[in-house]
This record gives sequence, structure tokens and C-alpha cells, in this order.
Amino acid sequence: MEGIRICGGRPLRGSVQVPGAKNAVLPVLAASILCRGPVTLENVPNLSDVAAAARILQALGGRVSQPAPGRLRVLPPEQPGRAVPRRLMQAMRSSLFFLAPVLSRTSQVQVSLPGGCDLGARPIDMHLHGLAAMGARFAQDGQALLASAPGGLRGADITLRYPSVGATETLLMAAVCARGETMIRGAAIEPEVTDLARFLQAAGACITGVGTRRLRVMGVQMLQGVRWRICPDRIAAATVLCAAAACGGRVALTGAVPDHCTAVVRALCRAGCCVTATETGIALESDGRLRGIGALLTDVYPAFPTDAAPLLAAALLRAEGESAITDTVFENRFACAAGFSALGAVAGILGRTVTIRGVRGLHGAQLAAPDLRGGAALAIGALAAEGESLLTGVEHIDRGYEDLAGLFAGLGADTARVRRREAGAG
Ligand code: UD1
Repeated sequence: MEGIRICGGRPLRGSVQVPGAKNAVLPVLAASILCRGPVTLENVPNLSDVAAAARILQALGGRVSQPAPGRLRVLPPEQPGRAVPRRLMQAMRSSLFFLAPVLSRTSQVQVSLPGGCDLGARPIDMHLHGLAAMGARFAQDGQALLASAPGGLRGADITLRYPSVGATETLLMAAVCARGETMIRGAAIEPEVTDLARFLQAAGACITGVGTRRLRVMGVQMLQGVRWRICPDRIAAATVLCAAAACGGRVALTGAVPDHCTAVVRALCRAGCCVTATETGIALESDGRLRGIGALLTDVYPAFPTDAAPLLAAALLRAEGESAITDTVFENRFACAAGFSALGAVAGILGRTVTIRGVRGLHGAQLAAPDLRGGAALAIGALAAEGESLLTGVEHIDRGYEDLAGLFAGLGADTARVRRREAGAG
């Protein structure tokens, strides 16, 4: 079993280039099915979720190659396959993104209920209701979901009851080649949704209202091949900012988009960090002595992002005073709190809220990542702790970070990827 060995207690110093966003590249890879020519993607992070998406594309008859690091070339299938194997669907939540594009191309597809982080119930009703309004029919056979659109998908006027990122992306992908006009009201406006919309526009889609809660799509017959650069990962940026806040030091994030990180920057300033927008991105300076931030709620963009909530919680474990972070998006965002306690923190869960009373010092511990961002949060906690920690469950972390141990080591931390036995953990 692999793990990350972390000897904490050092400040972080240096600069890192922010990678392309996981949550942008995954829907874009699925949307490439809609294109009738090669799609070249740049700034693609090397993640296990990206590899899983590439495997799904290949299973559907597409060809995926990597002509250079950070670049993927997709040759979409002439005639996409009509089933995504269950094993591939369950590798990640984002496998669901393939439903709409394949349905749009073939009028029939079999998928199964997707896997992913266990953050709560995570229903997909808005994806299915929206597609049903566009003419899709569904039948469930055990874990298998059979979708068909006998007359092809047609435009519809859809109002989302909640601005779901995934449902907005599914419906955008369904609408771009549907017959007639689609309105998506109450759409999500996360930067990754905008990145997908811009990609689709570059491939020939007709979309107005991009970046607003009202997307209007006029269906076109087909999309063309395109070259596209994936937007920077605001959650990866938040990870480095929270780590430097926790440990103290000075980090510069090249390529970070300050506008995408406003809520995270504000929270870190409230905790006593000095964060500035620079010509090339964002810089943070912290003496590692933070103060509690009181109450903070996550919400949809541009509010504080749910994915960054455990990261900020980790940064506040040694802050003077109290903090209470409530995740309004997912029920089970703070499964990492048990790991915080193992590090010596005073952190408790009440419903969707993690409460933290800052302690003077943390100590190393055996830790297990419960999910992707919870795993990164535990790494941050361990970086701020004195002594050695071993973090297992790295398969969760690899879904969203190319090399988390290497990233922190590049900033002066004593971190390394190890086989579990090498760390003396049996
Ligand atoms: C995406 C992100 C994830 C992020 C989340 C919220 C990707 C690959 N993942 O996930 O990292 O944490 O946005 O910013 O982009 N919901 C329903 N029915 C649905 C769909 C969603 O009830 O059909 C609920 C969910 O259970 C959740 C809320 O809506 O409570 C938000 O989910 P959503 O925005 O859809 O998140 P994802 O697209 O799954």
C-alpha cells in the first residue's frame, strides 16, 4: 500500500505553477464525443480521473494520445459505442458526463450509476429530469441505466431547482446538438462550467449567457475539432494557499486566476494572512500564527467553495480562537475531522458543520484519506504538525492531484511518496 510521509513543522516557500482544473477537463473530455474532428487539449493535469475519462473515451471507440506532457489529443469515435462498462462508470462520479454526449450522438446508451467521493447522497435527478424534458427516456435495470432518445434530443425550457454544476454541464452538452432552442435557467456559474461552455463555443456551439444563470443554446448539427486550453485549477490553488497559511512562509501561485479565488482569499485574510494578486497570479505570506475566523458557510460560486472547506479547516487547526465551517452543498464534507483529532486538533462535527478550537501544537499521526479533498486537508494538517505522519488512502488524492507530496516538497516541505512498509507502519 502506498502512502505519503510528511514530517511537518517547516514553513513553505517558493512558487508553483497552478495546473489545469480537474473539474474542467473531465466534462471537456466527455464533450469531445460531440466533435467530428480531433480535439487537442492543453494544460491537462496528469490525474487518475483523467486517465479514467480517457479509458471511457476509448471504450466508446475514441482514440486518446498524449503527444506531450500536459497535452491530450482525442480522436472522437465516428460512431460511438452505446455502453460504458460498469467498471469504468464506477471509477469516478464524472463518468456521468458521458451520458448526454453519447445520447446526443447515438440516441441510445447504457451507463450505470457513477462512483466518486462519498460526500453524501449525491442524486442525479436534475441530470435525468432535464434530459427527459429534452426527449430522453430512462429505464433502470439493477445498476444499469438505459437511456434512449428515439426521435433525437430536442430543445426545452429547463429550470434547475438548484444550480448544480454537473446538471448544468450535462444539459449544456445535451443542448448543443439538440433540435431547436434550449434554455437552462438557474444554471451553475462555476468557472469550470464557463470553461466547458467556451470550449463548446470554440467547437461551433451556439450558446449565449455564458457565465450567467440563464444559458440559451441554439442547437447546431455538429461540432468541429478544436484546440483548447483548460482553465487553472482554483481548488489546487486553494490547497497551496491553505497549506502555506497553516505552516507559515511565502508562496506564489503562477497562473492562478485571482477572480476565481476571491472567497478563499478573503477567508485567509480574515485568518490573518497577507494575500495579494500579482502580475502572474496570487501570492500569500503568513507567519503561521492564524486567528479563528468564526462562522463561515460554503455555497455555490462565487461564495466559498465546498471543495476548499476541509482545506481551510485544516489551516485553522492551530489558529487562535474558534472557527465553524458549514458546508451547505454536501452532507458529509468533513469526514477528515477524525484525522484532525488524531493530529491533536480539537475539531468536532455537528451535522454539516465542523467546529475547530485552535490548539497550540499538533503532532504527527497515522492518517487515512477519506476522500479527495479530505485527504489533501489531512496532508495540510500533517504539514503543520511537529513530527512524522503517514497518510494512506492516496488513491483518493491521486484523483485530483498530480503529485501532492512532490508539490509540497517543491516548497521546502519534508514530504515523500512511500510504500507503506518503508515508513515503518507495517
Ligand atoms: C461538482 C464538482 C465537485 C464540487 C461540486 C460543487 C466536478 C467533477 N465535481 O460536483 O468537485 O464539489 O460540483 O461545486 O465538477 N444534486 C442533486 N441532484 C442532482 C445533482 C446534484 O440533488 O441531479 C445536489 C448534490 O447532491 C449536491 C448539490 O446538488 O448537494 C451540488 O451538486 P453539484 O453541483 O451537482 O456537484 P457535482 O456536479 O456532483
